[in-house]
Amino acid sequence: MNKQNRRQFLKLSITGGTVLLGGGLLSGCTLPPVMMNRPNMGAAQTSQPVTAATTGPIANTRFMPDLEIDLKATTGLAPILPGPKTSVWHYEASVVKGDSNSLIALPDNYLGPIIKARTGQKIRVNLINDLPSGEAHIVHWHGLHLPEDMDGHPRYAVAQGQRYVYEFEVKNRAGTYWFHPHTHERTAEQVMMGLAGLFIVSDAEDDALGLPSGEFDLPIIIQDRTFDSKNQFVYLARAGAGMGGMSGMSGMNMQSMMGFLGERILINGQLNVVLNAAARPYRLRLLNGSNSRIYKLGWSDGTPLTVLATDGGLLEKPVSRNFVMLAPGERIELWANFSRRKVGDELTLQSLAFEGVESMGAGGTGMGGMMSQGRSAPALGAPLTLMTVHITRQAETTSTLPAQLSKLNPLLLEDAINANNPRQFRLQMRGMNWLINGRGFEMDAVADDEQVKLGTTELWEFINELNPGEMMEQMGMAHPFHIHGVQFNVLERQVLPALKAGWDSVRDGFVDEGWKDTFLIMPGERVKVLMRFSDYTGKFVFHCHNLEHEDMGMMRNYEVQT
Ligand code: C2O
Ligand code: CU
Ligand code: CU
Repeated sequence: MNKQNRRQFLKLSITGGTVLLGGGLLSGCTLPPVMMNRPNMGAAQTSQPVTAATTGPIANTRFMPDLEIDLKATTGLAPILPGPKTSVWHYEASVVKGDSNSLIALPDNYLGPIIKARTGQKIRVNLINDLPSGEAHIVHWHGLHLPEDMDGHPRYAVAQGQRYVYEFEVKNRAGTYWFHPHTHERTAEQVMMGLAGLFIVSDAEDDALGLPSGEFDLPIIIQDRTFDSKNQFVYLARAGAGMGGMSGMSGMNMQSMMGFLGERILINGQLNVVLNAAARPYRLRLLNGSNSRIYKLGWSDGTPLTVLATDGGLLEKPVSRNFVMLAPGERIELWANFSRRKVGDELTLQSLAFEGVESMGAGGTGMGGMMSQGRSAPALGAPLTLMTVHITRQAETTSTLPAQLSKLNPLLLEDAINANNPRQFRLQMRGMNWLINGRGFEMDAVADDEQVKLGTTELWEFINELNPGEMMEQMGMAHPFHIHGVQFNVLERQVLPALKAGWDSVRDGFVDEGWKDTFLIMPGERVKVLMRFSDYTGKFVFHCHNLEHEDMGMMRNYEVQT
């Protein structure tokens, strides 16, 4: 990487909070706080259909938010490569009521703001769909425990020009959550076009640890994108690229089947990112916001990763791993201690090589090579450099890694109503579609085996089958599986002996010690998770977070009933 061309992380100080931003175009200028209170746009809320009395499109006058924000999904231009700007879709946000530091915008970036909230806070979000006409939209708060009409189920999507009002209390503990579109069959492309943001929750327990904060607490959102010669995003579904050797299958079908893989890595919406760091500890909050690419995170010099938190917040104590798997939708927080590094040192955050995510099954040669035909992007599992850390200054710090982070209070198997009889979900390919227990997504349908009872703890077992009898006979793929509405504990993983080799290249990177809302399940693997259905009845979705799989229907409702 040419030093002159490196984009620098830019520090954007916002009263105590600092966010790192890539962006050569921004270097040199000091940016003012971007989010300001602005007049309530209430007067403009005219043509909205009244479909719910207290929630949904219309605000509830009795709900008194601590924080109210306008969140507009709209079109824009982002300077990503030298030359023409890239047309993107993104979220613009502003604080209507409450602390203006609750929003950290990333200017000139397609990513949405970082929303900072506290446990117990009441939040109103006025979502405005200002996307191109025909583009319905709804936001899902990934990882948050919310009533079903606040969760962003695809059936609540609103048409262009309309709004949806969210009103909820933040019940989750401190953690790195996020938000993104959840429009039926449009999630993948809307995210790919740029719609996504972080939702960072803090609480007293987290505060008390004295972890690195301010400019030493940094988001790292990992995505992959492909650009055309005019610097525009290329999404293969639209390009319809043909697949060599797969006659009769369009590029679109193939992409849906395998998921979109981009040619280049972006960190926080920027290419070739360099973090100019001080020689001291950092708290890094990583999100895999990619449509389907899975990363095996590792430092270039083999330094182990120190993990502080998973999807649902802090671990009981820090754990050390030589590498960590991060599948789409998953988050991980790291303690990155650069204290012993010298000024001028450099290291990179890598995605290390791994195998077995696309599998032809027992005795097969692996699908990686075949499936990569016609794709110019690096194959899933190919090694990649994600970002560079460049130590630019000494630093004094008293920050030390706490031995104890939290008390986890995991669920207990003995409390499950089906401890010996897990509810099973088979992830399958049938008729060139990815399905769950033989079914694709239906907007309102809930099958008998998808109904659960409020106030119960259940054991669910996901089984990533191979597909005997199918045209793609033994084909298997890794699926990042996500369940709305809950945080769960991963209890157990098992793999078919024939597929153990691929699994062995990733298994030590699973951090199953903490609360999770998304987990990677490898071909031939079975994973048991324990969860509790509390507080809210209604229909919630669970789905593959490979967004192309989700859009093609690898999603179902489960319903919580009293
Ligand atoms: Cu992050 Cu239903 O998704
Ligand atoms: Cu979710
Ligand atoms: Cu999948």
